Amino acid sequence: MADHAQRLVQMLDELGRVTDEPGRLTRTFLSPAMERANLLVGGWMTEAGLAVHEDDAGNLVGRLASTARDAKTLLLGSHLDTVRNAGRFDGALGVLLPIVALAELRQRGVKLPFHIEILGFSEEEAVRFAGAYIGSKAYTGRLRASDLKLKDAGGHTLREVIESHSGRPFTPPKSAHRPGELLGYLEVHIEQGPVLEAKKLAVGVVSAIASQTRGRLTFQGKAGHAGTTPMNLRRDALAGAAEFVLSVEQVGRARPGLVATVGTIQVLGGAANVIPGEVALSLDVRHASDSACRAAVAELVRQAKQIARPRQLRCAWQPTIQHDATPCSPALTAQLASSVTAVQGKNLSLVSGAGHDAVILAALTPVAMLFVRCRDGLSHHPDEHAAPRDLAVALAVVIDFLQKLSVAKSR
Ligand code: GLV
Ligand code: MN
Ligand code: MN
Repeated sequence: MADHAQRLVQMLDELGRVTDEPGRLTRTFLSPAMERANLLVGGWMTEAGLAVHEDDAGNLVGRLASTARDAKTLLLGSHLDTVRNAGRFDGALGVLLPIVALAELRQRGVKLPFHIEILGFSEEEAVRFAGAYIGSKAYTGRLRASDLKLKDAGGHTLREVIESHSGRPFTPPKSAHRPGELLGYLEVHIEQGPVLEAKKLAVGVVSAIASQTRGRLTFQGKAGHAGTTPMNLRRDALAGAAEFVLSVEQVGRARPGLVATVGTIQVLGGAANVIPGEVALSLDVRHASDSACRAAVAELVRQAKQIARPRQLRCAWQPTIQHDATPCSPALTAQLASSVTAVQGKNLSLVSGAGHDAVILAALTPVAMLFVRCRDGLSHHPDEHAAPRDLAVALAVVIDFLQKLSVAKSR
């Protein structure tokens, strides 16, 4: 394996040890581990010749200025936060790979006729706050005052967390760039699914990112004594929620292309000897088609109410994330695909079921995404793995893409 691919593997390993939880990888918005991650990655950016700063929302920004006249900026990046007990590639790969690609181009003496910004977004996974993409929203001027009222599990608002981190008052910033000054945004990410592996390909390009709705559903019944309340007089919120979880699975299985998940469930004030009075659960629904995604959410909320009625429960639905499907830029993706074909011999185009910062960046500039095969299609799991030889292919693709874009822009 070439030296620069080897270096990328070492960096992924080292960053994968920066965690808030001993023994497993967890980095959440503005946590101590996120600060350490930004210091580590910022150091690597500096070594590669980039000027580095962190914005008030905790985004790490490395800029390599071109000396070319009227140069525009190409953005590359992904997120540095993780889910709980994460793998070490999700997000991190899209920040570290461009750093290594630039270091390699510098070694070859290549001067790019455009500025580069490498972005390590501070929050994509919605683990600490139930509204994903806080980092990329802040960077693109799409964070709203209402977002600042979101609360974490400790009851701290997003505003409080940001202000105590930066030590100054925070107002949602304007976009870091005007659309006219940008060439686009490229995000490299592990596929997090099994398609590339099945097709025996190291990399492929993304045509679009699926539509996604996430939210919180609560069932409210009545708490009571578990020893004295007869079964027929109970209003057990957890029994209703359990019935709903199975409905979600059934609807997900019955509709082609749909995925629907209850990922968390909380019994509020729960105890072994108390009938559950209130239960909150998360619902995450995705489909490549916006209308199919919306129809499934409407059907599931209807079913939740139907389940609640005979059990005399109240049921409330509060969406926290709603994104229509995001098409990648056909022009930028075609350029990326030509680099994939040059390096790998052939290209494959995939729809992403996972959300990515590219969803938010797409409102500002054309976006393209490169997917890298991962073992067993596994992600959001500590065994997440991308083979070093596949990382070498992805690096070669990004280097080729940057060089071809240089030639096109110098003309
Ligand atoms: C981000 O990882 C997502 O949930 O798609
Ligand atoms: Mn993820
Ligand atoms: Mn990710």
